[in-house]
Amino acid sequence: MNKVGFEYLDKKGETIFETFLKYTDEKEKSSIVLGKILKRLLNKERMTFLDIGAGNGEYLRLSLKQIKSLKRVKFTLLEPSSNLVKRLRLTAKNFPLNSTVKVVHSTFENFTTNCQFDVILASHLPFTRDRLPAVFGKMLKLLRLNGCLIVVERKKDDVHKFRIRFKSQLMGKECQALTIDDVVEVFDEFAKDKQLSILMFSVDSELHLPMADNMQDVISIIEFFLNKKWEEFPDNVRETVLDYVRQRKGILHQTDGFALVKKI
Ligand SMILES: C[S@@+](CC[C@H](N)C(=O)[O-])C[C@H]1O[C@@H](n2cnc3c(N)ncnc32)[C@H](O)[C@@H]1O
Repeated sequence: MNKVGFEYLDKKGETIFETFLKYTDEKEKSSIVLGKILKRLLNKERMTFLDIGAGNGEYLRLSLKQIKSLKRVKFTLLEPSSNLVKRLRLTAKNFPLNSTVKVVHSTFENFTTNCQFDVILASHLPFTRDRLPAVFGKMLKLLRLNGCLIVVERKKDDVHKFRIRFKSQLMGKECQALTIDDVVEVFDEFAKDKQLSILMFSVDSELHLPMADNMQDVISIIEFFLNKKWEEFPDNVRETVLDYVRQRKGILHQTDGFALVKKI
């Protein structure tokens, strides 16, 4: 599978990220919290908004749906995956009619602009820990004074534990998967010489793997979590992975952590 983590493959007309979304209420629950946050932040006309790694755009669209009489917003939606960017262009057509939406097909690293943004969203981006100071430093530069950066990542939930356990087996070495705690550590360090305020929220959700009905989808989701093709798993690891999820009846608890970083 890919090494960079964004070439989400199309399988049977859907990306594996979308396969995962069919079996979890993560976006539904998380978008309620994000909607409440955005309602408070998007309080003026023509504010500018950047969503980095927007995926298929559904998370942001659902969150905006929570807001009655949304002010006019200028959205920039950034997405590097060729498959997801096609879905994103379709979803963008269903964004609030009073707003403008620009879809940019690029990684964040290659994204250049002369604009600064009032709100930046970085939700579930697969950056490694060592890259965080550089990527968050760039996000803060793109943020206006009094603007707010919203970072969403997992807490140490079941999916996180699953990743740590089996990625380590597959890679043959200790594996690290990003959590919201790592994110906050980086911003606490930045806050030593930058004026930042940091607020935290969290929301729980559940993934129900279709163990009885659709093993193909179960395997796609496992591939998505571990970023490796099933054919490349050693036989013994395949068995242990399946035993692990069977023992939990296919249910994995998830917790999204939110860090709201305001530039003051
Ligand atoms: C798990 S999905 C999350 C999508 C969406 N933000 C959400 O929370 O529903 C991760 C997204 O990050 C994107 N991504 C991966 N690497 C990226 C990079 N270097 N720059 C920007 N986006 C990236 C992927 O293509 C994918 O859309």
